[in-house]
Amino acid sequence: MLQAVKGTRDLLPGTCQKFRHVEQTASQIASLYGFDEIETPILEPAALFLRSLGDTSDIVSKEMYRFTDAGGDDLVLRPEGTAGVARALISEGLAQELPLKLFYRGPMFRRERPQKGRYRQFYQCGIELLGVESPAADLEVIACGYHMLQELGLSQNLTLRLNSIGDLESRAQFREALKTYLLQHREQLSKDSQDRLERNPLRILDSKDPGDRKLLEHAPRLEQSLTPQAREFFLKVQQGLQALKIPVVIDPLLVRGLDYYCHTVFEFTTENLGAQNAVLAGGRYDGLVSDLGGPKVPGVGWAFGTDRLVLLLDELKSEWKRAPSFALIPVGERAEAELPKMAQELRRAGLRVDLSFSGNLGKRMKRADKVGATAAVIFGDNELNADRFQIKHLKTGTQTEVPRAQIIAELQRLAAQP
Ligand code: HAM
Repeated sequence: MLQAVKGTRDLLPGTCQKFRHVEQTASQIASLYGFDEIETPILEPAALFLRSLGDTSDIVSKEMYRFTDAGGDDLVLRPEGTAGVARALISEGLAQELPLKLFYRGPMFRRERPQKGRYRQFYQCGIELLGVESPAADLEVIACGYHMLQELGLSQNLTLRLNSIGDLESRAQFREALKTYLLQHREQLSKDSQDRLERNPLRILDSKDPGDRKLLEHAPRLEQSLTPQAREFFLKVQQGLQALKIPVVIDPLLVRGLDYYCHTVFEFTTENLGAQNAVLAGGRYDGLVSDLGGPKVPGVGWAFGTDRLVLLLDELKSEWKRAPSFALIPVGERAEAELPKMAQELRRAGLRVDLSFSGNLGKRMKRADKVGATAAVIFGDNELNADRFQIKHLKTGTQTEVPRAQIIAELQRLAAQP
């Protein structure tokens, strides 16, 4: 039997509805902050990610869906959205319109080992603020993310972790200090971290290995290597968050898996999703656009994993409100013939109407229950003769008789009830 590809899933209607709810909430809040939606292609040239994410990042070194197409082009199914937005800024000439505030959503692809909250095709919503050098931009994007999570009812279950990885100069200095320290303890490091020592020592800070974590307790701190300017920048972001009363934990071990970051990095994490604890993550990337051959345009942004937010909402047993719907149930041939016209009238009035296409009254009532209808409108010869229809409330089981001319008003009243 044909199965979905490993690490991909069918989002069935119930789940799909939850995805749309999360995306729509994100899009609405993004628009309050002045972000407009952009959609970039899923297929991008491989060079885009090779030049932006870094050769030593997990994504580039082992997770990209990269292939040569029939025309010989070297392509990748995008693993993330920021590089594509930066590419669009350059190729569409958007640098004339700075600052740019962009929101995006869509599927991303990484060939990771699948587990709960981690898929090979997953979905992100993200925002990017391009063209603003000041820490006010970092604050704006974090505040927007926090607002969305609040709107989804999740802010209580999440921790905002923040760090500064400084400018290029700060980072080069720290890399050397960290490497010197870790080389002295090389033998005690995990195999993975030993491999990273030469190529990308900063990523060792991210290690989940208990032995590595113990060693890191006494390692030099990134903070000690920050230049005065980088320190000042970091302080401004923290003060801004404090003024907005956004709770934050400074996490000196937070570094991000992608190479393009500088200064601010942050993640909202949860304890409710096992190992996959980051739900929204991002940071500043002042060198990205110029590294891709564009003008010097600073940027800051984040993306959240829509799959993970939906899982988290389920985990917290959040109530998913379904839009109210109504079942139309004809009894007998005359009513059956009348049904399409009735359904059309109600739908034109903005009411959601479900029809079951066959079966007796009992079977159709069962279906109305199953689709979660608020009420069923039942009509047969008697009702058609009297021009008065039965409305049965499915939650309470009570039944009322309503003149046909008033059915729309009555259903609209029911739909508006909480
Ligand atoms: P990222 O940390 O790689 O950052 O991904 C952001 C979020 O996407 C993660 O926190 C997680 O919720 C979700 N995610 C990542 N991989 C998976 C997966 N395999 N399955 C399910 N969810 C996943 C970025 O992608 C950056 N582009 C964010 C950014 C925007 N930085 C600046 N602007």
